[in-house]
Amino acid sequence: MDRNTQQKSHDLEVLYAQLEKDAPHLPLAKTATDIVPGEGPSSAEVLFIGEAPGYFESVERRPFVGKSGQLFRKILETESGIKPEQVYISNIVKVRPPDNRDPSIEELAAYKKYLDAEIEILKPELIVTLGRFSMGKFLPSAKISQVHGKLHKVKWDGFTSFVLPMYHPAAALRSTATKQAFTTDFKKIPKIIAWIKEQKAVAAKQKPEPEPELTPLQKEFAKSDKTLDALQASVIEHLF
Ligand code: URA
Repeated sequence: MDRNTQQKSHDLEVLYAQLEKDAPHLPLAKTATDIVPGEGPSSAEVLFIGEAPGYFESVERRPFVGKSGQLFRKILETESGIKPEQVYISNIVKVRPPDNRDPSIEELAAYKKYLDAEIEILKPELIVTLGRFSMGKFLPSAKISQVHGKLHKVKWDGFTSFVLPMYHPAAALRSTATKQAFTTDFKKIPKIIAWIKEQKAVAAKQKPEPEPELTPLQKEFAKSDKTLDALQASVIEHLF
C-alpha cells in the first residue's frame, strides 16, 4: 500500500469513528451500531453512491448486501468486468430509514458532511450515482430517465469530478425496461474510466488554463458551505 493509500485509509477510519461518535445526535441513529459506513479499498477509482441502507444492510452494517445490492454487485461484475471488492460503495444517508421510506430533507442534510468527506478523501476518478437521491446531489434539476448512462463533468470549489448517473438497482428489480437500461449503463464503465485517464494524462502535459470567471449563481454557491454541491455540470456526450 503506498503512502497516499495508507493516508486515505487512515482518514476514512477517523471519519467513521467520528460518525459513530456522532450517532446519538444524528437523525435515524441511536447508537454507533445503527451506522452503515462506506466500504471498499481506499485506492478505488470508482465510488458508487446509493440512497440509504435497507434492513439487511443495517443488520450486516455493509452497504448493498440485500436483494437490490446483490443485483448491483452481480451486474457490476458481469457487465463491466469490475469486481465489487475493487470499488468503493457508500450511501447518501448512513442509517436505515424506517420501512425503507425515502430519506427526508433533514436526514439528507445531516449526513451530507460525511459523504462530502468520503469524496474528498477518496478523490475517485468516477462517481456513479445509483438512483435519484444521490444523482440530486450533483445534478439537482436532472431527470434520471433523461440522464442515466451519460457522463457528466461536475465542478465545485476547485475540484472537478466525473459523475455517471444510473438507475437504482431496486428500480431495476421492479421493471424489465429499467433493468435493461441499468445493465447497458454498466457496460460503459471501463470505457469511461479509460477515457477519463486519457483526459487527465493530456491535461497533465498542458499548461493549466486560467479558471473561467464564475457566474453570479456560482459565486453564491462558492460562498456557501455547499462546497461539494454542483456548481456547474456539463454533459459529456460525444463518447458515450
Ligand atoms: N439501497 C441503497 O440505496 N443502499 C443500500 O446500501 C442498500 C439498498
